[in-house]
Amino acid sequence: MALWGGRFSSTPADAVFALSRSIQFDWRLAPYDLRSSLAHLRGLEKGGLISSVDGAAIRGALKELQSEVESGNFLPHDGDEDVHSALERGLTEKLGAVGGALRAGRSRNDQVATDMRLFAIDHLLHLAGQVSALQRVILAKATEYLDAPAPGFTHLQHAQPVLFGHELAKHAHALNRDVDRIRDWYLRTSFSPLGAGALAGSSLALDPEGSATELGFSAPIANSIDAVSDRDFVAEALFILAMIGTHLSRMGEEWSLWASTEFGWAKLADAFATGSSIMPQKKNPDIAELARGKAGRLIGNLTAVLAMLKGLPFAYNRDLQEDKEPLFDSIDTLNLVLPAFTGMVASTTFDRAAMAAAASTGYSLATEIADFLVRGGIPFAQAHEAAGKCVYQCEASGKELHELTDAQFAAIHPGLTADVRKVLTVEGALQSRTTFGGTAQIKVADQIATLESRILINQEWIDDKSNLFSGMMGQ
Ligand code: ARG
Repeated sequence: MALWGGRFSSTPADAVFALSRSIQFDWRLAPYDLRSSLAHLRGLEKGGLISSVDGAAIRGALKELQSEVESGNFLPHDGDEDVHSALERGLTEKLGAVGGALRAGRSRNDQVATDMRLFAIDHLLHLAGQVSALQRVILAKATEYLDAPAPGFTHLQHAQPVLFGHELAKHAHALNRDVDRIRDWYLRTSFSPLGAGALAGSSLALDPEGSATELGFSAPIANSIDAVSDRDFVAEALFILAMIGTHLSRMGEEWSLWASTEFGWAKLADAFATGSSIMPQKKNPDIAELARGKAGRLIGNLTAVLAMLKGLPFAYNRDLQEDKEPLFDSIDTLNLVLPAFTGMVASTTFDRAAMAAAASTGYSLATEIADFLVRGGIPFAQAHEAAGKCVYQCEASGKELHELTDAQFAAIHPGLTADVRKVLTVEGALQSRTTFGGTAQIKVADQIATLESRILINQEWIDDKSNLFSGMMGQ
């Protein structure tokens, strides 16, 4: 059903209708559109613009449509241009001309902006819950491997030993920033465009404050032109989703490396790995790889929306219809990736012996020698030089650092007394890293406990806000 046509002498050409239509992707906004219509109806009733008899009939029909949309008994037709036209058709099919009364004081411009905000908030809250679940799984794994020494890397070269629990926990910290970002985004997004109309507000006595509150928003948007043109909330949501995807991608890269034969650290559960159609022996980390690959499309969706917005006059333009598919795709992508990824992390086991054996190789204790000299009053630049010489000698003679003789140490630097051997153990190196956030076991345990309590606080917030926006996610 067309929502316009009075001033036209013909209906749009088929090619124009095909280009213009968005029903094939915006139908999933239907539950939000209906909820927003109920809030708008209350405003019209309050302003005396719809009689209580008509109001009751429209409310009844909207509620019927809610359950019919949910059950799949009301579906869009090929002739419907978008979700708003399809639902107005549904209303007039039920009520006749009265169904058209709801359009007073409202334009598809404020309507679609409202639907998109409701949709985005509902779905990002749900995703925040899934990210929290992944964080909890990561921290449980980190606790399991809290005392397991492993090599730590920079430049993908052995750098200094770390506890593997420390290595794992870092990912939960990164994801916590993503949940924080969603909380922060929510503060800016939870405003209602209803009442803005096409751009200029309305001459009718609507109730934007009342409809904002009814929908769970904090307040109406302060400028009606901004209300219909702002898609910052879409771009920002897409950035957050791309960042989550990028975090999963980096984690996926580590998982793939750790599961390789060369590393031999990670063992994936059979249910969270895949095989090869030709090589019977293969067990591949496809979940980690797909997470890595899908980060590309998440970044692409963000780029698409920013490119669409750039240069757009700051009012409603039809270009804005292109905000939907990227947002929907990014949400769907993460809804697909997160459960599989969380299951993969929860079911991976790590080879403590292999990691411990690797921890001291690659001269990863060279910094201990430099720090030993610094504690003896030697300036770090000299200490660094001396420790480097130790590595040089070891490399030339195929030895490990602790295999240098007392005489060799002393010849490199007089400060390198026999006591230096005491710091040349992985255990000692780990225990000495007691700075805030460092790799000493007690510090790693502290940061895990602190993060666990932050996750609980975030989860309470997610539950609280989800109650405000619940029941709409449907599809
Ligand atoms: N399908 C449109 C969109 O997503 C709805 C708004 C249409 N507004 C208009 N003035 N043609 O943006």
